[in-house]
Amino acid sequence: MKFNFLTLFPELIEVHMRSGVIGQAIKKNIIEFESVNPRFFTKDKHKTVDDVPYGGGDGMLMLAEVLEKSLQSILEPAQKSNQKVKTVYLSPQGRLFRQELITDFLNYDQINFVCGRYAGVDNRFVIKNNISEYSLGDYVLSGGELPALSMMDAIARKIPGVLGNQESSELDSFYEGLLEAPSFTRPGEWQGLDVPSVLISGHHARIKEWKEFMSVLVTLKKRPELLLYTQSKSAILLPSGRRISLIDVEAFYSSLSDKEKIVCGIQDMVIRGDEN
Ligand SMILES: C[S@@+](CC[C@H](N)C(=O)[O-])C[C@H]1O[C@@H](n2cnc3c(N)ncnc32)[C@H](O)[C@@H]1O
Repeated sequence: MKFNFLTLFPELIEVHMRSGVIGQAIKKNIIEFESVNPRFFTKDKHKTVDDVPYGGGDGMLMLAEVLEKSLQSILEPAQKSNQKVKTVYLSPQGRLFRQELITDFLNYDQINFVCGRYAGVDNRFVIKNNISEYSLGDYVLSGGELPALSMMDAIARKIPGVLGNQESSELDSFYEGLLEAPSFTRPGEWQGLDVPSVLISGHHARIKEWKEFMSVLVTLKKRPELLLYTQSKSAILLPSGRRISLIDVEAFYSSLSDKEKIVCGIQDMVIRGDEN
């Protein structure tokens, strides 16, 4: 997959693309990227990319024409080679980007990220090209580069081969709609806090079960609004359609020692609050 960034600050993109798993994926040619600087498509000697907004208001807006030329410079070759392309404008007004939206992005050969700066872009550019707007969250950043890189990174992690064998995205938070179970590394005891014994037992089936129930408990504690329930409210309904009985979750919770609850940050929880 190829990721293109329309940006006035290509150096911000380069740094990220050279590091970590993304840098490795580029070296292995699993993903490609290109930065296109709208300034390159200006005609005047000052290389102007912005102008004042009609109707007044603070800040400057990026010009539709330079953005259009930048975008067409990427779209034309992609169309000639029948690439499936999606173009995104990063915007605080856009659809909130979430993990479950990634599956759709994986259907494309090329994703173009239009990174706004200043007070944003001339809206006609977005409308004319029917560009989807995506937001990273309900706050305003200075530019679209960080949200574009965040989206690219989250999408790339789901492309086969990007993560090495040791890093599986299947245990990450949001897999199956749940947060990840708490993680611990060496030493087994640190400042009086012990790693839950099951994790050092070597018993894979028990560890898997512990992680699954722990994921439910951590999600209930930290982000309860993420959970869906069956109509009877007797079970949690995962996006895959799988159900996890709340009686089982409660029994698992009762089986944990106080120390284990503390080290996992899940003490004093009421699991079936509605029914009690
Ligand atoms: C200062 S912002 C412009 C905000 C714009 N005036 C508004 O109120 O909607 C400059 C650029 O940063 C990017 N940006 C800012 N916040 C963002 C967010 N939450 N998600 C995605 N992009 C964002 C957009 O590309 C935007 O064009």
